[in-house]
Amino acid sequence: MTDASAQTQNKKIYTREEFEELRIRKAREMKADESLQKDAFELFARADEKYWVHQTNWFGEPILNLPQDMFALQEIMFRTRPDYVLEIGAAWGGSLLFYSTIMEAIGGKGVIAVDIFIPDDLKERIGRHGRISDRIRWVQGSSTEQSTLGKVKDLIGEGSNVLVILDSDHTHDHVLKELRLYAPLVRPGQYLVCSDGVIEKIPPNPLRPRSWGPGDNPLTAINAFLKEDQRFVVDEDLEAKLLLTCNPRGYLRRIENFD
Ligand SMILES: C[S@@+](CC[C@H](N)C(=O)[O-])C[C@H]1O[C@@H](n2cnc3c(N)ncnc32)[C@H](O)[C@@H]1O
Repeated sequence: MTDASAQTQNKKIYTREEFEELRIRKAREMKADESLQKDAFELFARADEKYWVHQTNWFGEPILNLPQDMFALQEIMFRTRPDYVLEIGAAWGGSLLFYSTIMEAIGGKGVIAVDIFIPDDLKERIGRHGRISDRIRWVQGSSTEQSTLGKVKDLIGEGSNVLVILDSDHTHDHVLKELRLYAPLVRPGQYLVCSDGVIEKIPPNPLRPRSWGPGDNPLTAINAFLKEDQRFVVDEDLEAKLLLTCNPRGYLRRIENFD
């Protein structure tokens, strides 16, 4: 709304700072509203049965995440300007093209994809997009193998700002190992994002048997990790405004000036 039309309708004109304060206050109200949270989660759980989380594309390639969470990652990238995005678990690769598109706009050296399974036709599809594809590098291997971590470190080099996104095998033990292995790559002020803690709340579906489930998933791993590594905190305000997220307690920021 223009200032003039706001004035004619006798509405308050917010400064940018006031609007920010309003948004944060309202996001915290959403988080505290148990009835809204319950309704939102029920919608999520019902839609999950229809693979809602798998329905988004970027440059025509599937992303296995909610647009809400991809927008959260975009906000993190804009704010923290990582040199590299490291995604552990790339699946169909739409997420890699998404991160690389943001980097094309704001700057950034590379997007590194680690996956245990990287077929040639996937590389070919993700490689079709000129400059957007050119900064994507693939590392095939299990994320918890030292050899995989070594290849990642060789690509990143010393002193780089890295946004790490963990989205592979969602069992507690595997994710806790990943958190311990990859947290040291995250510098103060940067983020370690751990996906799919929502599994803790979703009733197991007998038609989709998985090694993970309530009690054994990324959220249980995050809770264990945060007890042993106090350099990271959950970005509560980022989570609050999403309302729907696959990553509860999963947006971890490394504290600056931690003694
Ligand atoms: C949930 S999908 C990733 C979704 C992707 N991040 C996205 O947003 O579209 C999980 C991926 O993790 C990979 N994966 C499973 N176990 C792994 C392991 N031990 N190491 C590396 N990747 C693994 C699978 O092959 C699969 O591609």
